[in-house]
Amino acid sequence: MKKLVFLTGAGMSAESGISTFRDSGGLWEQYPVEAVASIQGYERDPELVQKFYNERRQQLSSVAPNEGHRLVASMEEKFDVTVVTQNVDDLHERAGSHHIIHLHGELMKATSTRNPNDPDCIVTLPEDNPIIRMGDKAKDGSQLRPYIVWFGESVPMIEPAIQEVSKADILVVIGTSLNVYPAAGLLNFTHPGCKIYLIDPKDVPYDPSLGIHHIMKGASEGMKELCRLLENEK
Ligand code: OAD
Repeated sequence: MKKLVFLTGAGMSAESGISTFRDSGGLWEQYPVEAVASIQGYERDPELVQKFYNERRQQLSSVAPNEGHRLVASMEEKFDVTVVTQNVDDLHERAGSHHIIHLHGELMKATSTRNPNDPDCIVTLPEDNPIIRMGDKAKDGSQLRPYIVWFGESVPMIEPAIQEVSKADILVVIGTSLNVYPAAGLLNFTHPGCKIYLIDPKDVPYDPSLGIHHIMKGASEGMKELCRLLENEK
C-alpha cells in the first residue's frame, strides 16, 4: 500500500461552519491572536482565554464533519493514511480517520498549566459539558487549561509528523495558508519522488520547485477531484 499523508488546516473544517483564522471575517479578525492564542495572553488574562476556548468547544458540539473529512477517511480503503492536522477540532476523528496527529492540540482536551505536555495530566472533557472553570485542577494540582499549543510554546508533535511526511508517497495539503511554522515547513521533508497536491480555493505561497499540483477548489469538491486523480494509484 502506498503511504498517503494529509496535512490539513482550518479550510478543511470551513464547510462544517467553523471559521478559518486569516480569511476575511476569520477568527483573528474578531479576537486578537496574541490575547487568546499565546502563552503570554494566557498569563495576562486566563479567564478571557478560558472563555474563548469554552465557546469554541460549545460550537464544536453543534457542527459535523463535511464530505471532505469523509473522503479523507475513505482513502484508508486504498492507502496507508496518516492525517497531520493543525486543527484542534475532532472532525477527522468523527468522520472515521484512524491515524491522526494533532500538531496544535485538541479542543476537547484539557491539561496542566504547570506542565502542559505531561501525558498524566491530559484529560478529555465531558462531551455534555466541556467547560474549564478557573479553580479546576489538573492531576499535578495546577490550574487546568486548554490542551492547545499556543504561540510561544513548543510543538512536540512536529517530530512524529516529520517522520510521517518523510515516508509519504503522496502528500495532500488541504485548507492551510501555510503561515504558521513549524507546520508549514513540513512540505520540505517530502522525499523527491513524493507527489504533492494542494486543495485550496485560493493561492497559497509555496516553493514552486516542489512541483505542487494545485486543485483550486474547496475541501469537499477538491477531495472528489483528488479521488479521481488517484483512481489508478495502488
Ligand atoms: P488559515 O485561516 O491561516 O488558512 C485557511 C486556509 O483555508 C486559507 O488558505 C483559505 O484559502 C483556505 N480555505 C478557506 N475555505 C476553504 C474551503 N472551503 N476548503 C478548503 N480550503 C479553504 O488557517 P491555518 O493555515 O489552518 O493555530 O492556520 C494555521 C494555524 O494558525 C492554526 O492551527 C491556528 C492559527 O493561529 C493555533 O491556534 C495555535
